[in-house]
Amino acid sequence: MAIISSKISDAIAYLNNRNIIGIPTETVYGLAGNALDVDVISKIFEVKNRPTFDPLICHTYDIEEVKKYVRFIPNLAYDLFQKFSPGPITILLPKKDIIPDLITSGLPSVAFRIPNHTLTLELLKNISYPLAAPSANPFGYISPTNAYHVLNQLGQSIPFILDGGDCEVGLESTIIGFENGETPKIVRLGGISVEEIESVTGKINIQTSSSKPTAPGMLESHYAPKKKIRIGHIDTLLVENKNKKIGILSFSKNYENVSFINLILSKNNNTTEAAKNLFSYLRQLDDSDCEIILTEYVPQHGLGNAINDRLKRACA
Ligand code: TXA
Ligand code: MG
Repeated sequence: MAIISSKISDAIAYLNNRNIIGIPTETVYGLAGNALDVDVISKIFEVKNRPTFDPLICHTYDIEEVKKYVRFIPNLAYDLFQKFSPGPITILLPKKDIIPDLITSGLPSVAFRIPNHTLTLELLKNISYPLAAPSANPFGYISPTNAYHVLNQLGQSIPFILDGGDCEVGLESTIIGFENGETPKIVRLGGISVEEIESVTGKINIQTSSSKPTAPGMLESHYAPKKKIRIGHIDTLLVENKNKKIGILSFSKNYENVSFINLILSKNNNTTEAAKNLFSYLRQLDDSDCEIILTEYVPQHGLGNAINDRLKRACA
């Protein structure tokens, strides 16, 4: 069973010994290993049960480091890194040969991000390689936002989890790609809102949905609980499911009197707070005795569209 600890020196020792470990970030916990070591990367795919057509994100601590692994950084990509890093933004950049093809699933670009978490930044500064890290959940399931989520799901398969507390953002990073090396597009909605991205790029295309596995990663069903989950107008769904033990994940409204368990994403109607609670509340409902989870879309502003993207995939 994995050890949970905040000791960075232990985390470094495990990594240098070619292990994969759980690490905290501001978005979700990652399942991390040396991005330059193909055997280690294979282990990540294996433990996560992830198909190798779904490429991994590399993590490092500053832009100068990113430059060692990519052929060039377009000006806008540079501006985005400057404005939002360290933070929940990932950028796809043309890779140098030193980045193994297994990381990118054979694609010519590699995803890089600089996570905003004190422990993990410190860790990254004290190793000589970037860390490849997908979210530390079995493929397709809800992402982990604290060390115990990782322990419960992957604790048997890894030796160590670096404990950095609860994730501040709670949603994965926003991923930006550059078509023909120039025009930016959002390929995954995430912790930086579309409005914030557009303050740097101007109007941007959003191209996030794909059931085509070779198109990077964004499968229609993902982030899914084991329980049945339905999305729509909660009042209507309540009528349709009235004889069941119901769990409700609502945005801001209280349904405690009509449901078996009701978790409210943000009593203050705040999408940032809702994002932080989303995955851990979904998990709580999945672990509860309810038979079905009823949920609803949240308002589209701020992190709302990223939350709705996750909810849609969770219900697919
Ligand atoms: O916030 C995050 O980004 C978290 C933390 C741990 O950093 N990581 C994360 O990784 O969400 P993962 O593996 O769960 O999701 C990575 C996504 C996948 O959808 C993958 O297809 C896409 O990034 N991706 C990675 N490399 C890519 C590439 N070279 N081209 C296109 N998409 C890529
Ligand atoms: Mg993931």
